[in-house]
Amino acid sequence: MIEPTARALVTGGAGFIGSNLVDLLVDEGWEVLVVDDLSSGHADHLSASRRRGRVKLHTLDIREESVVGVAEHFHPHVVYHLAAQVSVPVSVLEPHRDADVNVLGTINVLTAAHRSGADRIVLAGSAATYGSAVKLPARETYARHPDSPYGAAKKAIEDYAHVFSVQHGLDFVVLAPSNVYGPRQDASGEGGVVAIFAAAVAAGKEPTIFGDGTATRDFVFVDDVADAFLRAASRGSGRNLNISSGVETPVGELYDSIARLARFRKSPRFNDPRPGDIDRSVLDPGAAERSLGWKAWTPLEEGLAKTLEWFAKRF
Ligand SMILES: NC(=O)c1ccc[n+]([C@@H]2O[C@H](COP(=O)([O-])OP(=O)(O)OC[C@H]3O[C@@H](n4cnc5c(N)ncnc54)[C@H](O)[C@@H]3O)[C@@H](O)[C@H]2O)c1
Repeated sequence: MIEPTARALVTGGAGFIGSNLVDLLVDEGWEVLVVDDLSSGHADHLSASRRRGRVKLHTLDIREESVVGVAEHFHPHVVYHLAAQVSVPVSVLEPHRDADVNVLGTINVLTAAHRSGADRIVLAGSAATYGSAVKLPARETYARHPDSPYGAAKKAIEDYAHVFSVQHGLDFVVLAPSNVYGPRQDASGEGGVVAIFAAAVAAGKEPTIFGDGTATRDFVFVDDVADAFLRAASRGSGRNLNISSGVETPVGELYDSIARLARFRKSPRFNDPRPGDIDRSVLDPGAAERSLGWKAWTPLEEGLAKTLEWFAKRF
């Protein structure tokens, strides 16, 4: 059982999922140190929790050796590792850079977790480890052949987490979320489709659907994902777990729900599918339910309404 005064070091804690996790940890009485280089995250995301005095932000690249000293000084019970180069297209264009952050950076964070005496590290994995040829719904036990450098790096870090547990006794859990959506998601570049649609609607512009709208994704609300990470502080030891709703939603239906909730009357534009876009994606969340006692509980319409509210305030 984690003590109420437990300490968590959260890499990537100024990002979309990370900052929502930090807010939950603070609500639960944790003391939190965020390590983030703010390359895609924002210090603003942490302002509510920082005002409560239980979060410190250390602006630092996870590849820096000093991460180890920072962790030793803070002495966390749990290290949450979410910092990453998160773009699949960038990983294809710049595989060295992707591996530098996502593999070498992770080895540095594993070293920091081990040297600082943390009880456990919880790492953000990815559905991209499965590759497009996997049988659906994808299960953790299936053979996985990633199609991108990003997927390959996320698969490699599962092995490194296992290696650190064997070599150094560092306990670990890898959580692989499906398509996470919610407040604070970045709508620029290739951010999540919900964020892109919600930002377009908030700005009064019709978004573009690539393909005919029948491609499916498995959407999971960020509060539910943060709860899975919280539970993984004390459950799921040594496991790699899908974190998903297990429900396939066509992107065209997603747009209809968003437009209905926002009372937005414009039809989307349609364009050709982009290279590498997959037709279907869905993960089996059964193992997370058994290991963490976790299940996605936020209905899509409720999560979309909260997301739209956040985007509406920003525009
Ligand atoms: N969003 C999703 O749907 C999703 C799905 C599966 C897995 N993930 C994983 O979850 C994690 C969080 O993703 P997110 O969607 O919140 O993305 P995000 O870009 O909002 O968060 C990533 C954070 O890491 C920080 N960061 C990046 N490189 C860093 C570096 N070298 N040193 C220190 N900090 C660095 C960024 O500034 C940012 O705050 C990532 O590991 C991602 O691969 C996300």
